[in-house]
Amino acid sequence: MASRHLLVTGGAGFIGSNFVHHVLSHTDDTVTVLDALTYAGNRASLEGLPEGRMRLVVGDIADAATVDPLVAQADAVVHYAAESHNDNSLADPSPFLHTNLIGTYTLLEAARRHGTRFHHVSTDEVYGDLQLDDPQRFTETTAYNPSSPYSATKAGSDLLVRAWVRSFGVQATLSNCSNNYGPRQHVEKFIPRQITNLIDGIRPRLYGAGTNVRDWIHADDHSSAVLAILERGQIGETYLIGADGEKNNKEVVELLLQIMGRDAGDYDHVADRPGHDLRYAIDSTRLREELGWKPAYGDFEQGLAATVDWYRANEAWWRPQKEATEAKYAATGQ
Ligand code: NAD
Ligand code: DAU
Repeated sequence: MASRHLLVTGGAGFIGSNFVHHVLSHTDDTVTVLDALTYAGNRASLEGLPEGRMRLVVGDIADAATVDPLVAQADAVVHYAAESHNDNSLADPSPFLHTNLIGTYTLLEAARRHGTRFHHVSTDEVYGDLQLDDPQRFTETTAYNPSSPYSATKAGSDLLVRAWVRSFGVQATLSNCSNNYGPRQHVEKFIPRQITNLIDGIRPRLYGAGTNVRDWIHADDHSSAVLAILERGQIGETYLIGADGEKNNKEVVELLLQIMGRDAGDYDHVADRPGHDLRYAIDSTRLREELGWKPAYGDFEQGLAATVDWYRANEAWWRPQKEATEAKYAATGQ
C-alpha cells in the first residue's frame, strides 16, 4: 500500500499515542498529531519515534482555523481526541461537551469541505450496561443507552458522524472499543491508579463491591483493529472492537496484588461511582469475520505483568500527575 499522511487527533493521549507508535512501526505512513495537551496529553508519550515521520501540532480540535488546513493536508483523519474519564465528567461535564461534541463537529465539517477520509474512535459505553448474567454481548445493532456525561457525549459524537455520512457523504467509519490497558495510560484510570498506588505502598481502591465487569483489551490490539478498519472498513459502517477479556474489578485488583507480590486481601472498598455501569461485553465477530482481525495479546495476566513492569520502569512519565490525581479522588472519598 502507498504511504499515507494521517492526522491523528489526541495522539499525545493513551490510545492515540499507542496508535502513532503502531502506525510508524507497521506502515510507511507519516503522521501529524493534533493535540491540545490537556492534563491527559503528554509530549513524552511521543518520544523515540522515527525522525521526520511525526510532527506534533498543539491545538484544540474545536478551533476551525487550526483544524481546517491540517485536515486539508491529510489523506485520512483518525479521531481519538476526547475528554475520556467518567469520574471527571461527573465532577464537571462542560469540557466533555466542548471537545467530544463541538470538537467532533468541527473535524467533520473540515472533512466534509476537503473530502478527507475519516475514522471516528468511540467506546462501548454508548450502549449503556449489561446485567452480570445476560448471555448477550454488545453488537453493532445494540441500541444506544449511555449513562454518564462522558458516554452521552461520545454517543452524540457517534451520531454526528453517522449523520455527516448520510447527509453530506463524508467518507467515515466508526469503531466502538472496550476498556484498554497498557503503557502510557493516565494514572487517573483504574489499572494505572492501582499499580502506582502499590508502588507507593498505598492499598488499591475498589469502587463499591468491585463486582462491575469490564472487557479488557490491550491498547496495541485496539490500534491494529483501527488500522484494519481504516484500510478495509466499509464507509458508513461501525465495527465493535474487543478481545473477549471480561473480568470483574475485584479479580483485576487481586491479579495485580499477586503480580506485585502482595496479599490477596490487601485492598479497600471505597464509595461507588454514581450511576456506575455494571458490565460491558463486546461481540467482535463482525470485525474478525469481515476484516480478518484478531488480537495478538491472548493472555491478560501476561499483558498486565508487562504493564506493571512499564510503570515500574517509567516513573518519570507518571510521577508528575500522581499527587494532583489523588487529591481529586480524595475530594470524593474515593
Ligand atoms: P486520553 O484522555 O488518554 O487522551 C485524550 C487525548 O486527547 C489527550 O492527549 C488530550 O490532550 C487530547 N485532547 C483532549 N481535548 C482535546 C481538544 N479539545 N483538542 C485536542 N486534543 C484534545 O484518552 P484515551 O483513553 O487515550 O482515549 C482516546 C479515545 O479512545 C477517546 O475518544 C475515547 O473515548 C476512546 N476510547 C477509550 C477507551 C479506553 O479504555 N481508554 C476505550 C474505548 C474508546
Ligand atoms: O469501556 C470503555 C471505556 O473504558 C472508555 O470509553 C473510557 O474512556 C475509559 O476511561 C474506560 O471507562 P471506565 O469508567 O470503565 O474506566 P475506569 O478506568 O475509570 O474504571 C474501570 C472500572 O474500575 C470501573 O468499573 C470503575 C472502577 N474503578 C475505577 C477507579 C479509578 C475502581 O474500582 N477504582 C478506581 O480507583
